[in-house]
Amino acid sequence: MAGFWVIGNWKMNGRLQTGKELASQLLAVAAQCADRVRVAVAPAALHLHAVGSVLDNSAIQLAAQMASAHEDGAYTGQCSAAMLADLGVRMVLVGHSECRTELAQDDAVLRAQMQRIHEQGMTVVLCLGESLASYEAGQTLAVIERQMTVLHDWVDWSRLMIAYEPVWSIGTGKVASPEHIAAVHDHIHQRLRELGDAEAAVVVLYGGSVKPALMPQLLALSGVNGVLVGGASLDAEQFGQICMVVAEQALTD
Ligand code: 13P
Repeated sequence: MAGFWVIGNWKMNGRLQTGKELASQLLAVAAQCADRVRVAVAPAALHLHAVGSVLDNSAIQLAAQMASAHEDGAYTGQCSAAMLADLGVRMVLVGHSECRTELAQDDAVLRAQMQRIHEQGMTVVLCLGESLASYEAGQTLAVIERQMTVLHDWVDWSRLMIAYEPVWSIGTGKVASPEHIAAVHDHIHQRLRELGDAEAAVVVLYGGSVKPALMPQLLALSGVNGVLVGGASLDAEQFGQICMVVAEQALTD
């Protein structure tokens, strides 16, 4: 399990004080398992600075939920990749289904965001996933394949992670079967092999209603290199339990 990632996506939750408190609680978690689990959290952009100050010099990396597709300029309400890098952000989510839907982000926007993040030396966490309709129609792999076309001219494989998050599983409590998760992860690794000398470097995460109890099943799947956690990452106890399950598994490997 060495190198297994646990990344918390805090989305647009909480207030400044709760974010800082959650970050301080996570320091205790990191102290127990940082040698066996790689941990990152993505607070809201407005809280990055304060949360980053709490996490400074800790083993927990700072992540952002989104970067602008633009370098600089008259783009009201947006944050550039350079601004995020200034705050110590190491990785940035791209194409989360909530951004694809709410903000109508298409492939051109995602590619531009990836480029900006890359220019700043940060890691792209590209989120993929099928809708319920596509899942029920047996179209999952076709959707994943299409969403992966944004990687066609990508070169920096060591600064890329992929997060497979079935849209129908996000925040719903519905979890994909281990067989389904394994099949999609295998397919993603296979596509990465075809796209370049990529497979060894790229971490592929699973996300969607991840809770501590799900971890043993996920850890048994060889293609799953980490988890992207939404709701459960807002609770230090649950997030800590997720990290500890990984750490304990690492000891027995
Ligand atoms: P939940 O864990 O709340 O389902 O959210 C998953 C997610 O969207 C992480 O990016």
